Amino acid sequence: MSVRPVTFPPAFLWGTATAAYQIEGAVSEGGRTPSIWDTFSHTPGRVEGGDTGDTAVDHFHRRAEDVELMAGLGVNAYRFSVSWPRVQPTGRGPGVQRGLDFYRGLVDDLLDHGIRPVLTLYHWDLPQELEAAGGWPERDTAHRFADYARVVAEALGDRVDMWTTLNEPWCSAFLGYGSGVHAPGRTGPVDALRAAHHLNLGHGLAAQALRSVLPAGAKLSISLNPSVVRARSQSPGDLDARRRIDALANRIFAGPLLKGAYPQDLFADTAALTDWSFVHGDDLAVIKHPLDSLGLNYYAPAVVSDATDSHGERSDGHGDASEHSPWPGADAVSFHQPPGERTEMGWSVDPTGLYDLLLHYTREAPGLPLVITENGAAYDDKPAADGTVHDPDRIRYLHGHLSAVHRAIADGADVRGYFLWSLMDNFEWSYGYGKRFGAVRVDYETQTRTPKSSAHWYAALARTGVLPGLPGLLEA
Ligand code: FCB
Repeated sequence: MSVRPVTFPPAFLWGTATAAYQIEGAVSEGGRTPSIWDTFSHTPGRVEGGDTGDTAVDHFHRRAEDVELMAGLGVNAYRFSVSWPRVQPTGRGPGVQRGLDFYRGLVDDLLDHGIRPVLTLYHWDLPQELEAAGGWPERDTAHRFADYARVVAEALGDRVDMWTTLNEPWCSAFLGYGSGVHAPGRTGPVDALRAAHHLNLGHGLAAQALRSVLPAGAKLSISLNPSVVRARSQSPGDLDARRRIDALANRIFAGPLLKGAYPQDLFADTAALTDWSFVHGDDLAVIKHPLDSLGLNYYAPAVVSDATDSHGERSDGHGDASEHSPWPGADAVSFHQPPGERTEMGWSVDPTGLYDLLLHYTREAPGLPLVITENGAAYDDKPAADGTVHDPDRIRYLHGHLSAVHRAIADGADVRGYFLWSLMDNFEWSYGYGKRFGAVRVDYETQTRTPKSSAHWYAALARTGVLPGLPGLLEA
């Protein structure tokens, strides 16, 4: 029996992704000042094991080696983020040359290896000084973000043509200011809603700034982490729980970005908390700035029910435990772990969620290309006696999810690329170094990088555009 090869479109972007605070280290070099993640990780009890990003995987000093590593993987794109306090330490004023030079060097190394740089401006490291001035709940932060975008665009616009404003604004707003499990660790439901709006506004203002500086062909995007939210049953209560979480996780961003409006039901659900007067006249028109693609990050779906008739976990659906909810106005919603396989994060393995997500945004945003800017899994993989690292679980996870992407493309989704989270093991936010997402293992004692078997598997895919099979893996 012959099996048709699973082949992706020719110009497909095959990449890996990272974020500045998770890999760079060198937190006080070159004039860099603390971000909210430096402050947070140095606050006892905030990060497992007291881990911090002080050294991380020392990428700041091993940049050239890491680009070589990527070249060895055969990828044609790399998604990284710029550390705001490295290039604009106070969050205001001109850029710091030493910081900008680091990224210029990185981009040049990438281009020399035929790897397309995909730059994210904000992957959660707000300069601490801006948090001291109120952080994302304050409108001024959106303007500061647009100024910072301009600084970076002026420095790198001649050599980077794919620009992403924000990574996962849901996490910044609702984990940072709602449940407090992310930096800056504040727990105010109204602050979280205000932060969400000012992140949206910051995106729009930054998009305007980027457009005014960048060459005409530059592509603008934002990376969201929509929740693929499923009701536990078709009861009216469970369906309403689904609607509420969909509003707070998804439509609060997709509404303004794609349609220029917040959903009315979101206003109704949160009316007891706020009148939303922090949304000003022109904001929605600014936020609805045209995009060239939409970045989607996907890990696992969420299952919710009406809390009055269930025994679900009062968690945020992300596995992060906090006594404070990240879901303002949705106290009566429970999250449930679907049965079946889970990753080391406790997240369920369900590629159908990625398929559903891609088809959903194909309908929601017709004509807008989609890019999967993060997908991957943490497993507790360990080196064998000979030093090699076999991670068959991760290969199975990737195989399942890439098969789903292929199916979505066949069914009409215009998917232009896939970025594996992550290039290498790194600082996994409040979980510290305990959770390993890398295709490349990092020995944190020696900083030695060792490609895992998933890296070799992914390299074969990136080089050929044909999904490698699974045979042989199970015997490893
Ligand atoms: C996403 C983050 C990324 C990484 C993965 C596992 O939410 O954007 O930095 O932590 O989760």
